[in-house]
Amino acid sequence: MSATNTIHFKPDTYELIQKIMKRYPEGRHKSALIPVLHIAQAEFGGWLSPETMDLVAETLRLKPIEVYEVASFYTMFNLQPVGKCLIEVCRTSSCWLSGAEDIMDHLEKRLGIKMGETTADGQFTLRAVECLGSCGTAPMLQVGADYHESLTIEKVDGLLNELKQKDTHSRYC
Ligand code: FES
Repeated sequence: MSATNTIHFKPDTYELIQKIMKRYPEGRHKSALIPVLHIAQAEFGGWLSPETMDLVAETLRLKPIEVYEVASFYTMFNLQPVGKCLIEVCRTSSCWLSGAEDIMDHLEKRLGIKMGETTADGQFTLRAVECLGSCGTAPMLQVGADYHESLTIEKVDGLLNELKQKDTHSRYC
């Protein structure tokens, strides 16, 4: 495990990462970076702090900049803290035409925040995102790794009631 970081992966997580690294030849551990970033994000509160990214770099024997470059490129990695439930609403064509705007307005009203913001209690973050590849079941949104499709206002209300009870961060992988 890490000798210089103040944070560490749980032993089971560390073991899983070692298994993932073994899929790749020595010197090619960078190929494990994306799955390991997902694992790190899930383990450390739903976002990747500089400290977490340094731990990933050290674990994969990469330079920190190699980790920062990848983590900052993909929107699925959060570089700022997010609420326990990160609600990402698709706003691209199919969803837009099927009522995404009404869904977003409703979420903003129910939670008392705007897109991009987090509720004061740290429970919810709202984000508008581009196509999530589920256009046939528009409008849709994602919470962590879970898709919620063919949405109506009633379905969104049911989902919010369910998510209010959650006391852990969304599952990201
Ligand atoms: S347009 Fe919304 S999932 Fe593709």
